[in-house]
Amino acid sequence: MNVIDIINKTKRKEPLVRDEIEYLVNGYTSGGIPDYQMSAWLMAVCLNGLTDEETLLLTLAMRDSGDILDLGEVKGITVDKHSTGGVGDKTTLIIGPAAAACGVYVPKMSGRGLGHTGGTIDKLESISGYRTELSFEEFRDIVNQTGFSVISQSGSLCPADKKIYALRNATATVDSIPLICASIMSKKLALNADCILLDVKWGTGAFMKTREEAEKLAAIMEKTAKAAGKKCRAVVTDMNEPLGFAIGNSLEIREAVDVLKGRSKGRLYRICMELTADMLELAGKGNHDECVKMAKEAVASGRALEIFRKTIELHGGDGRICDDDSLFPKAKYSHVISASRDVEIISVDAEELGMASLMLGAGRVCKSDDIDSAAGIILEFEAGDKISMDAPLMTLYSDVCSDFHEAAMRAYKAIKFRYLTSRALT
Ligand code: URA
Repeated sequence: MNVIDIINKTKRKEPLVRDEIEYLVNGYTSGGIPDYQMSAWLMAVCLNGLTDEETLLLTLAMRDSGDILDLGEVKGITVDKHSTGGVGDKTTLIIGPAAAACGVYVPKMSGRGLGHTGGTIDKLESISGYRTELSFEEFRDIVNQTGFSVISQSGSLCPADKKIYALRNATATVDSIPLICASIMSKKLALNADCILLDVKWGTGAFMKTREEAEKLAAIMEKTAKAAGKKCRAVVTDMNEPLGFAIGNSLEIREAVDVLKGRSKGRLYRICMELTADMLELAGKGNHDECVKMAKEAVASGRALEIFRKTIELHGGDGRICDDDSLFPKAKYSHVISASRDVEIISVDAEELGMASLMLGAGRVCKSDDIDSAAGIILEFEAGDKISMDAPLMTLYSDVCSDFHEAAMRAYKAIKFRYLTSRALT
């Protein structure tokens, strides 16, 4: 077999067969195929796409490049959940404990944030003592004890994806639906839960900018998972606006705790209850309406919060944050942006707010950057709200930046509003 023939075939839109895809993936992972040849093939995929069969074969070859976890010793049905990520997306921290409280097991490997989107691992590491790097045995034991655990991606899973993803980042070949599908699904299949819920986000704050693109990605990911023998459902959700009111690592943990305490019943809570119900339905716990009821009861009874607290403690973290807000890290500096006149909020650009939060220290530009756990933004509104003159629109927090001018300008520009006469406020 010859790598130039393989590149030529994809360049000419001729489908590759299993042996050719395995040759390419194994050859690149072991170092036999150089970056420049793999880059040429990746660009051909970006321009010409892959068939669904090729996408499946690529996913399986990448899955098989490393370990596949054996979750057989987990005591019940396992359900994994993946969100394609966005600004303020703390859903895992709510739906994991809520689903576990309803009798399913949620073993989860998550990533760190890069650019304007956050990562669950950074959020959890803002809890004092929380360890995200555990052995497989520790991870499995926590899942058995509480029903829920989140750790960082193990280096032994999907080494092919690690190498290919880094190359895609450096060669402008990230935005290809078959490549994104193979990258995400190879890791999901290597984690090897019985069921997989995929939450594909679209909008300014997400990777997929249009609903149409998100639907295409959702469809191929679901088809690939099912062809690999998993129960899978993919849903498409709107990420044009941040999810909830908090953006930034410890600020988001605090908001997740508020939702688990039943203190917050807005859009974030509603989306989380729907997603939890999707997970329960996949696991055969009932029809959708019954599962929504179970999810809400898990929160209202306090069981979901107790699971979150116990999981934090088993990871070495300080579970008292579930009772005492003063234990969350506090930023040295803060800055309030108020409405200069009576306004109605029309929309908020999630990506711009994510960028403002990054400028405050809550995110990374490069993978090796440190982040500031307490930094971020708390919003005081959702789209459609009316705010009176001088009332706060949002508060910015940072440890590293005492001059908020630039971040505040960016955050303010993210809001689209219309001015109101004072009578229109009521
Ligand atoms: N997340 C991944 O893990 N891979 C992609 O290609 C895109 C997002």
